[in-house]
Amino acid sequence: MSDRTGIFEGDDPFAIARSWLAEAEKSEPNDPNAIALSTVDSDGLPNARMVLLKDIEDDAFVFYTNYGSAKAQEIDSSGKAAFVIHWKSLRRQIRVRGVVTREEGPQADAYYESRSLKSRLGAWASRQSQPLGARTELMAKVAKITAAHGPMPKRPPFWGGYRVTPSEIEFWADGAFRLHDRFRWTREDTDNAWGIVRLNP
Ligand SMILES: Cc1cc2nc3c(=O)[nH]c(=O)nc-3n(C[C@H](O)[C@H](O)[C@H](O)COP(=O)(O)O)c2cc1C
Repeated sequence: MSDRTGIFEGDDPFAIARSWLAEAEKSEPNDPNAIALSTVDSDGLPNARMVLLKDIEDDAFVFYTNYGSAKAQEIDSSGKAAFVIHWKSLRRQIRVRGVVTREEGPQADAYYESRSLKSRLGAWASRQSQPLGARTELMAKVAKITAAHGPMPKRPPFWGGYRVTPSEIEFWADGAFRLHDRFRWTREDTDNAWGIVRLNP
């Protein structure tokens, strides 16, 4: 008999992730959807940075970024990534590993259009992860872009989403005396059923 009860209960790990995030939205001071995204470069050297998780879909997690950035180059060449989301207020984490594909269709357009005008123009102006001589150069570029694109800029072709389709999701919650609860969900691909294992803390 499974003792996967309470906050760990359910048949759909994406539903559990959505419900944990909804709880965190009530208790975290800032950015409850911030994930530490991990990639590897062409030498196999790991890299990590925060990004904002924007969608939890039926089979995947989506975030947005610049396709010229270091993370994008690392994802595009390996096709894989991992991320962790940790909520100090809940003392819980979710770890995800999987394959990554681009989201650069209507969904990316819709998300881009939902952002503030300044953020939309900023996405055009920034050559993310490239060296920048001075902040004034960036501000001058923002002014130029604003004049060129007006109040309804289109999504830049070099900016869009990535969809992480997990083969592994682990839910972790703090337990008394460091006897934490951990459940790891794994599956080969989206046609397969999830296998669920309780892990030692
Ligand atoms: C809380 C937080 C949220 C962030 N969200 C994003 C994001 O959604 N997309 C993004 O491109 N960068 C985001 N950043 C900036 C990244 O951490 C990083 O500096 C940038 O994407 C460049 O990373 P790279 O050089 O590894 O590509 C965020 C930073 C923080 C601290």
